[in-house]
Amino acid sequence: MPQTLISSEELQQRIRELAAEIDRDYRNCENLICVGVLKGSVFFMVDLLKQLEIPLAVDFFQTSSYGSATEPGEVRIRKDLDLAVRGKHVLLIEDIVDTGFTLRTILDLLKFRGASSVKLCALLDKPSRRQIEVPIDYRGFAIEDKFVIGYGLDYDERYRNLPYIGVLEG
Ligand code: IMP
Repeated sequence: MPQTLISSEELQQRIRELAAEIDRDYRNCENLICVGVLKGSVFFMVDLLKQLEIPLAVDFFQTSSYGSATEPGEVRIRKDLDLAVRGKHVLLIEDIVDTGFTLRTILDLLKFRGASSVKLCALLDKPSRRQIEVPIDYRGFAIEDKFVIGYGLDYDERYRNLPYIGVLEG
C-alpha cells in the first residue's frame, strides 16, 4: 500500500483556500477559461472548479506523458484546446510542476495565441527538480523530490483514483 503524504482532508482543505483566492482575484472577470492538463489534473480540477462561483469555461490540453519525450525538455501536444484563447483570461490547472518543461511550453503557447492573461494553479510543486522557471500563481503544496501517486497522478497508469497523495514504498 502507498504511504500517505497528503491526506484527502488536507487536500480538500487546501483546495477550499485556493478556490477562495481564485474567486476573489477573478471576481470581475467575464471571460475566464480554466484549462486542465490531461490526465493528471482532472481530479484536482473537478474539486477546485466545483468550489468556484465565478463564471468560467473549461478546456483541456494533453501533453506527452512522463518520460516519453524524445529529448529532455521536449514536450508534445497530443490534444489541443477546443476553444480559442485570444482575448481571454486563462487559468491553467496542473497536478504537479516537476522540471517545469510541460508548463513552460503550454504557458508560452497560450501567450503566443494572444490570451489576455495566463496564470497557473498547481496542486503540487517539486521546487528542487526545476530546470526551467515557471511562475506558480496558486500553489497547493510544495513537496520533496519523491515520486508521488494518487489524486490524478499515476505510476504506469495506476493509482490515479486514490483519494490522497501517496508515495510508493521501495
Ligand atoms: P514536468 O514537465 O517535468 O514539470 O512534468 C510534469 C508532468 O510530469 C506532470 O504533469 C506529471 O504528469 C508528471 N510527473 C512529474 N512528477 C511526477 C510524480 O511524482 N508522480 C507522477 N507524475 C509526475
